[in-house]
Amino acid sequence: MIELRRHNAAFCGPCFLHYTRQQVRKAIDEFEMFSPGDRVLVAVSGGKDSLGLWDILLDLGYQADGLYLGLGIGEYSDSSGSYARAFAASRDARLIEIDLPADYGYDIPTGSLAARRAPCSACGLSKRHLFNKAALDGGYDAVATGHNLDDEAAVLFGNVLRWNTDYLGRQLPVLPGEQGFVRKVKPLVRLDEREMAAYCVVRGIDYIVEECPMAEGNRHLGYKEALNAVEERSPGAKAAFYSEFLSKASPLFRPLAVASRDGGLQACIRCGSPTTGEVCAFCSLAERAVALGPTRRAAAGGS
Ligand code: AMP
Ligand code: FES
Ligand code: ZN
Repeated sequence: MIELRRHNAAFCGPCFLHYTRQQVRKAIDEFEMFSPGDRVLVAVSGGKDSLGLWDILLDLGYQADGLYLGLGIGEYSDSSGSYARAFAASRDARLIEIDLPADYGYDIPTGSLAARRAPCSACGLSKRHLFNKAALDGGYDAVATGHNLDDEAAVLFGNVLRWNTDYLGRQLPVLPGEQGFVRKVKPLVRLDEREMAAYCVVRGIDYIVEECPMAEGNRHLGYKEALNAVEERSPGAKAAFYSEFLSKASPLFRPLAVASRDGGLQACIRCGSPTTGEVCAFCSLAERAVALGPTRRAAAGGS
């Protein structure tokens, strides 16, 4: 039996699978993420959320291919790639692979050093760019990520703590495709971390359990702990925090996000991606990271 306190319910295995798929279907329909004829590229990290999402989309009959990005974070990347490949093989599904060190000449530890930014920030920037590029190159209608309710509630909490009005205006489960950006969707926003782990266990999906070693001390982990403490006392609080934000507060912030973005976009002179400057943030990060060279890369702990 799987107990879900926030729904005041308990499910057996088959009913839990039905519940999980229904939650994904509801999110897709409610936010008009994509339609049955669309080609979806699922960004898979080898973790429970993205592999579970890919599995659910295939079972719901969507045309969903996978995209795995090798970040060059030592053994963690080797192992996460193996889980993604094993899942793709088990479902006879197509997995596109991009390897940051082999294809772009740098890894995340070096990128972080070169950009003088936290690893997750250099990593997020690289991921956003490469997900978009892969989707454009492959003619996909949308990129789907495995961000779940806990992820979105933690980001929201961080944005509210600082009243980041610009980010609050953009924090949506669907970002429309426009001006060189492919549509981005988060079909797991109605499911939490525990539910996704249970889903994978019931379905027999093997996934990487370890968190990224570079994410240690990441601010969002603290926000998740704080929200879990609230959830423990008031089951359902986390889901309400996020869903009520979407229905009541998000529309108020949206005009601010649009205004801040109205600076005008142009094509990056290196790669053609939309950017506000001459060279996009990805190309300038890659250039600086490659320039650090192999010696500095080894010193940064990269493989
Ligand atoms: P994270 O930023 O690690 O919390 O991951 C959020 C989502 O980004 C995951 O659910 C995946 O959809 C996607 N993702 C993260 N890492 C990778 C990766 N190495 N390759 C492809 N997709 C990834
Ligand atoms: Fe990006 Fe860890 S997965 S820094
Ligand atoms: Zn560029």
